[in-house]
Amino acid sequence: MILETLDLMHDKITRVVPEVMPAATVPILLLMCFLFLIWNYEETSSIPGPSFCMGIGPLISHGRFLWMGMGNACNYYNKLYGEFVRVWISGEETFIISKSSSVFHVMKHGKYISRFGSKLGLQCIGMHENGIIFNNNPALWKEIRPFFTKALSGPGLVSMIAICVESTKVHLDRLDDVTAGLENINVLNFMRQITLDTSNKLFLGIPLDENALVLKIQNYFDAWQALLLKPDIFFKISWLYKKYEKSAKDLKDAIEILIEQKRQRLSTAEKLKEPMDFASQLIFAQSRGDMTGDNVNQCVLEMMIAAPDTLSVTLFFMLVLIAEHPEVEEEMMKEIEAVIGDRDIQSSDMPNLKVVENFIYESMRYQPVVDLVMRKALQDDVIDGYLVKKGTNIILNIGRMHKLDFFPKPNEFSLKNFEKKVPSRYFQPFGFGPRSCVGKFIAMVMMKAILVTFLQRHRVQTTKGRGLNNIQKINDLSMHPKERQPLLEMFFMPRNTDKHQDD
Ligand code: HEM
Repeated sequence: MILETLDLMHDKITRVVPEVMPAATVPILLLMCFLFLIWNYEETSSIPGPSFCMGIGPLISHGRFLWMGMGNACNYYNKLYGEFVRVWISGEETFIISKSSSVFHVMKHGKYISRFGSKLGLQCIGMHENGIIFNNNPALWKEIRPFFTKALSGPGLVSMIAICVESTKVHLDRLDDVTAGLENINVLNFMRQITLDTSNKLFLGIPLDENALVLKIQNYFDAWQALLLKPDIFFKISWLYKKYEKSAKDLKDAIEILIEQKRQRLSTAEKLKEPMDFASQLIFAQSRGDMTGDNVNQCVLEMMIAAPDTLSVTLFFMLVLIAEHPEVEEEMMKEIEAVIGDRDIQSSDMPNLKVVENFIYESMRYQPVVDLVMRKALQDDVIDGYLVKKGTNIILNIGRMHKLDFFPKPNEFSLKNFEKKVPSRYFQPFGFGPRSCVGKFIAMVMMKAILVTFLQRHRVQTTKGRGLNNIQKINDLSMHPKERQPLLEMFFMPRNTDKHQDD
């Protein structure tokens, strides 16, 4: 009887419930479970940062990166929450770190040798699992890096000094012919041409149209910046990314043509040049079956854009700083005259140029071209007491770190900041450890050679009202496209005359 009564009740209930409960009950229950889960999720994170707030936090933080640009967004979060912050990019946990001990830890350890970025974006510009810079497949990256290390050290590094001296002179001569040294000069473009020419001479060795290629490199870089953090949905709408795809294709095609010419030369050469240059090494690796043709093209492309994208901007900033700090210029000129005099700079001068070296370091600290380093955790770890799960994205905000600790005048441009030896953990403009800048030594040599050769012949002056204060971020890796302001023009004046802008 009892069972029958219960059965009857059950029957009634199942018939009544659908009438009483609205159709939306099941979705509401599911939503509540979901909210309960994400509420609990939020509770578990002890790292400072914006609240998860039912998934709105990740949307806002990714939106902020897209809207403000990476550099500004990172500084915003570090300012607001401290030097170790948790945000989200594409829904993935991302730490922004500007604390020197944590930055040092990440750079030093092999568990952080990968980077992160939108897979579709990297595919679009040819960097996904190809080349070196954003190759996020550690096994492939390990095979490629030695080609770069070899080309950027040893005999290559030594011969780069004479190549830089020669190229700077040739470009200055050409400029004097056109402008008599008194016209405004687009310095960034000028430096891009010199750095492209020097890279070509050392790594590829095929005549090229500098102006056209510099433009293609700039457009490729814009595409790289624009696509690096885009959400996948962006790539569903072809008209949104078409122009970037085209920019990438333009440069890739141009480089492919140059490599093809190189192949022809190699196949018809009676004797191969020793030591073999970077492009030849890669082409032979391809013929041995060690590398794909696509990868060879991408590696050459990245080697050709590395200096025009970083070094040229750094040199440009340095010239602006020289124009703004005549006392620093005077100190450098005294050293250059004492160490080198009128002859060309050479390898043995490098260690004796202490003031010039400190000036380069201080310029990179005060006005960095690369102020962020992107990495990914390949294993679980603990950094300064914070748990870092495998797969976490990491952004090292080195630009901010260089203005936080150690330096006596952190927010001023002053050579005093490098008077005392700076412990490496406080200053890492090229990164450090297994995934550091593979060109860091050649970059220093190139900057010294180009800068000294330039200063031996010319003085600079900024156009009126266009000091560094007016430069928005030209910082290539973290620049927001809207911020590209045309503070690029300066006056070059021959050093041996007292010609002035007002003449
Ligand atoms: C002022 C000049 C330069 C600066 C400030 C600079 C800075 C950097 C930084 C911060 C990184 C990331 C390092 C990391 O993840 O820890 C990097 C990577 C890299 N740099 Fe440079 N760099 C400069 C010049 C050059 C030059 C001249 C070359 C080559 C000709 C070069 C080639 C590379 C390459 C290939 C990578 C990727 C390395 C890898 O992922 O394994 N860089 N650079």
